[in-house]
Parts: sequence; C-alpha cells; structure tokens
Amino acid sequence: MDAHALSILCITLLISTLVHPTISELCNPEDKRVLLQIKRAFNDPYILASWKPDADCCGWYCVSCHPTTHRINSLTIFAGELSGQIPPGVGDLPYLETLEFHKLSNLTGPLQPSIAKLKSLKFLRVSWTNISGSVPDFLSQLKNLTFLDLSFNDLTGSIPSSLSLLPNLDAIHLDRNKLTGPIPDSFGAFHSKVPGLYLSHNQLSGPIPASLANMDFNVVDLSRNKLEGDASIIFGSNKTTQSVDLSRNLLEFDLSKAEFPESLTSLDVNHNKIRGSLPTELTTLNLQYLNVSYNRLCGEIPVGGKLQSFDYTSYFHNRCLCGAPLESCK
Ligand SMILES: *[C@@H]1O[C@H](CO)[C@@H](O)[C@H](O)[C@H]1NC(C)=O
Ligand SMILES: *[C@@H]1O[C@H](CO)[C@@H](O)[C@H](O)[C@H]1NC(C)=O
Ligand SMILES: *[C@@H]1O[C@H](CO)[C@@H](O)[C@H](O)[C@H]1NC(C)=O
Ligand SMILES: *[C@@H]1O[C@H](CO)[C@@H](O)[C@H](O)[C@H]1NC(C)=O
Ligand SMILES: *[C@@H]1O[C@H](CO)[C@@H](O)[C@H](O)[C@H]1NC(C)=O
Repeated sequence: MDAHALSILCITLLISTLVHPTISELCNPEDKRVLLQIKRAFNDPYILASWKPDADCCGWYCVSCHPTTHRINSLTIFAGELSGQIPPGVGDLPYLETLEFHKLSNLTGPLQPSIAKLKSLKFLRVSWTNISGSVPDFLSQLKNLTFLDLSFNDLTGSIPSSLSLLPNLDAIHLDRNKLTGPIPDSFGAFHSKVPGLYLSHNQLSGPIPASLANMDFNVVDLSRNKLEGDASIIFGSNKTTQSVDLSRNLLEFDLSKAEFPESLTSLDVNHNKIRGSLPTELTTLNLQYLNVSYNRLCGEIPVGGKLQSFDYTSYFHNRCLCGAPLESCK
C-alpha cells in the first residue's frame, strides 16, 4: 500500500468514527435509552450534563458499567440540584447492583415501585431526600440486598415485617424518618445476621419485641422513639454487641437484671424510666462511652473499671445514684 492509499484509508477511518461514534461504544443501547429517559424525567439537570446521546454511557458521570458485560451496574446521584420523583425507568436497568440517591432535598414522592424489578440490587441508599410514603413491602423481594439505607427522609407508616426475609442483609438504616408503630416481631428472626440496626429519630412505639433476644447486633440504635417496657433482652452475656443506644424513649426496666456482653464499648440509655442499680459487672467492661442520666436509678456507682473516668453528666438526674463522680453516698 503506498502512502497516498494509506492516508486515504486513515481519512476514511477518521470520518467513519466521526460519523458513527458508536462503533467502539461499550454501552448497551437499551441501558442508554433508559438512562436518557431518566435524564428527561428529571428535566435535564446539570448534574447529568455528561449524559449525552453521542457519548458512550459507560463514560458518563453517576453511572458505571460492569467490566465484562458493559451493562450499567451502578447509578449514584449525590448532592446535586435534582427535582421531582424517582422515575419508573430506574426499574429498567436490570443489571443494577448499586442504586443511590443521596442529599437531594428536592427529590420527592414515594420510593419508586419499579425498584422491585431490580433483582441484582445489592446496595440501596435513598437518604437525605424528601421522599415520602411508606417503607415498601416490595423491598423484601430484593433477595440480593446487603445494604439498605432509607435514613433522613420523610417516610411514614410502620416498618414492614417482611424485611426480615432478606437473606443477605448487613445493615438496616431507617433512622430519621417519621415511622410509627412497633418494631416488628420478625426483627428477632432475620434470615441474615444484620450487624447494624438503626431505627433512631422516629415515632416508633410499643414494647421492644422479646424476639430481639435472639439477635446479636454489632450496633443497635433505637434512640429518640416512644418505645416502652423492657429492653434488657437487647443485652445478653453471650452476644458480641458493641454499641447500644436506647436514649430518649419510655423504657422501664431494672438495669441490675441486664447481662452485658463483654464486647460492649458504648451504652447510652439516657432519658428513660430505668430503675434498679448499676451492676458491678459494668466495671469489667472496656467502656468508651456511658450515659445513664435522666432515669430512676439508685444506689452506689460501682467503683472500678472505667466508671469513675466518665463525667458526672453520664450519671446525673437519677433518683438516688451516688458515689464518684457524683456526690458520695451518705
Ligand atoms: C429546590 O427547589 C427550590 C425551588 O424550586 C430551589 O429554589 C432550590 O434551589 C432547589 N434546591 C436544590 C438543592 O435543588
Ligand atoms: C425538603 O426537606 C427540607 C428539610 O426537611 C425542607 O426544608 C424542604 O422544604 C423540603 N423541600 C421540599 C421540596 O419538600
Ligand atoms: C444474587 O447473588 C448471587 C451471589 O452473588 C448470584 O449468583 C445471583 O446471580 C444474584 N442474583 C441476581 C438476580 O442477580
Ligand atoms: C447463648 O445464645 C444461645 C443462642 O443464641 C442461647 O440459646 C443460649 O441460651 C445463650 N446462653 C446464655 C447463657 O445466654
Ligand atoms: C448524657 O446525656 C445527657 C442528656 O442528654 C446530657 O445532658 C449529658 O451531657 C450526657 N453526658 C455525656 C457525658 O455525654
């Protein structure tokens, strides 16, 4: 081939890539169609400006493609100016493993029902938005889900008991919503281990289900609800729980009857109606944080361990607790 023929070939190739930019495109055309439809549904927001029909969607911001199948496997929209509801189109990205809408105060409406179709979904976060409606029952169909975060939204209604059917769940974050009703009994019978249970800052009421005695969470945060009755079943000597926050509820039980796991490093039960005395066992724990203030505790603060290293505000406003760091017992 002479130089002339070669340069014609080069020019021809150059023109054909300009005219047909999709020749080397990795993006699946169906995924691209769906994403462009999602962009239109959100009214072409600036945060999706890189979503251009003539560019490979595997190179767009806020999405990623699987390295070999090149199907869209992640859609993550974070802290942008985005308004409206989650479009039904999100359910038409069948290979999605990660779906995240985070810090989008103008995102409203319900958690889109078409999300139920995303059978490969592992990570679902819709948090710090203004989505409303209930925590949908359909979430229990997402059998591959390992992480569920619906915190800091406007969700109402009760927690569906079917969430316990999820076999691979690592954490549930439903904190900072307006959820009402009880913690489902089924939360003591998760089909998976669930290291983290975060339900704080809601309006949950009723007793803590006795079934929770069976669960060994790493972290339990039930603070700032209206939960009543006995919470001692959260503890247990053969659990491996590290952090328990039950503060600002209506809990009423005898703390001296609770058996604390050796692993416990943080315990906050302030603002309840907890009675009894502080068990000596607390001196054997490697506590980094303790707050039992604003309860109905009595008796001497056991001497030893970390107990005298905490501020008096960890203990104040009880019925008759005494001893260091509070005033000495008479
Ligand atoms: C939300 O919408 C309001 C009213 O349209 C607008 O003023 C504001 O900038 C938007 N905020 C964000 C973060 O999109
Ligand atoms: C979103 O939530 C914030 C804080 O809760 C609120 O101030 C704002 O008005 C809400 N925006 C919309 C569009 O609902
Ligand atoms: C769920 O996860 C398993 C194990 O990672 C995988 O084999 C299976 O294909 C996944 N199911 C779906 C529907 O993606
Ligand atoms: C330890 O846990 C097992 C299973 O959760 C339970 O059956 C057993 O009664 C517990 N033992 C004690 C001493 O709490
Ligand atoms: C314990 O909780 C009470 C009530 O919220 C608070 O005033 C106090 O500062 C807390 N103490 C510590 C050491 O955090």
